[in-house]
Amino acid sequence: MRVVSGIQPTGNLHLGNYLGAIKQWVAMQDDVAASGGECLFFLADLHALTQPVVPAELAANTIEMAAALIACGIDPAKSILFNQARVPAHSELAWLLGGTARMGWLNRMTQWKDKAGKDRDGQSVGLFTYPVLMAADVLVYKTTHVPVGHDQKQHLELARDIATKFNQDFGVELFPLPEPLVSAAAPRIMSLRDGSAKMSKSDPSEASRIHLTDSDEAIAQKFRKARTDPEPLPGEMAGLDERPEARNLVTIYAALADTSAEAVLADFAGQGFGAFKPALADLAISVIGPIRDRFTQLLDDREAVGRHLAQGAAQAAARAAPTLAEAQRAIGLQV
Ligand code: TYM
Repeated sequence: MRVVSGIQPTGNLHLGNYLGAIKQWVAMQDDVAASGGECLFFLADLHALTQPVVPAELAANTIEMAAALIACGIDPAKSILFNQARVPAHSELAWLLGGTARMGWLNRMTQWKDKAGKDRDGQSVGLFTYPVLMAADVLVYKTTHVPVGHDQKQHLELARDIATKFNQDFGVELFPLPEPLVSAAAPRIMSLRDGSAKMSKSDPSEASRIHLTDSDEAIAQKFRKARTDPEPLPGEMAGLDERPEARNLVTIYAALADTSAEAVLADFAGQGFGAFKPALADLAISVIGPIRDRFTQLLDDREAVGRHLAQGAAQAAARAAPTLAEAQRAIGLQV
């Protein structure tokens, strides 16, 4: 089993990233190592270039996001933690796969359509070819499993299509097809202000998301102000079908408490948000508070975090090199 996943070092880690992806990464690292496999987790700093860049911010965010992952429980002694830009094989394989991926496939990507909106001509080329780099990130390690939130599933299906076509076109069995592992507990954490939009770093409203760096007061206030409805909580999930904001808060509670949404409703059925929101805030603070404290401590020594990344990059580069060389040979490149 080889597990690979990444996160863009833009802004702060939020509860959607944590519950949708990072919590799975942390849970997997021991089991995968115990079964003789490996986990590689990286900061997707090259993907961050698809949006306007402030260089000093990108550099600082990369260290801070690495510290945040370590604070969440990613252990650089157990998992390989690095930033993508330090392992050039990602970019090199992405160029090779650019010959395999089709324009039509990329045109169908919902993230491209959402982010580009009506102004396709004004977008960076990188935003369009973003999923090809993502395919390279995964395929360069012959990855078997990719733990992600639901929003990345389509990109991984594309990675499978690219792998299949490459193997067929060049008559090789180079790339295994990577399996997306979408968190069952929290596939899509939604905005606290709008139950139809995902919780996202790019939402202009800070109140829409909980950051793992938020103070206890900020966490409590954001949940207090979260949009809901006047109805009490039902006894069963079916009762939340038409209530996306309420369903989102119940999902967050269940994911934080490592229990099922049904079990949460069994405890809170008949109660209103006046009772549920403070309980949710207390639970969130009990999970996020210790992560925030570790994060703050880690940032006292940014150089130490940088050293972890450098060490991880060397380990990652050693694993990527043979696959890149095989791909080059399959294509007929003399390198
Ligand atoms: P990114 O940085 O947007 O998000 C990192 C991870 O967090 C998950 N996520 C969510 N899960 C549930 N609810 C939400 N509201 C939510 N918001 C974010 C994402 O699904 C993701 O798992 N393109 C990727 C980074 C990447 C990558 C890769 C991932 C680059 N190369 C290769 C896997 C494999 C991205 O921008 O994720």
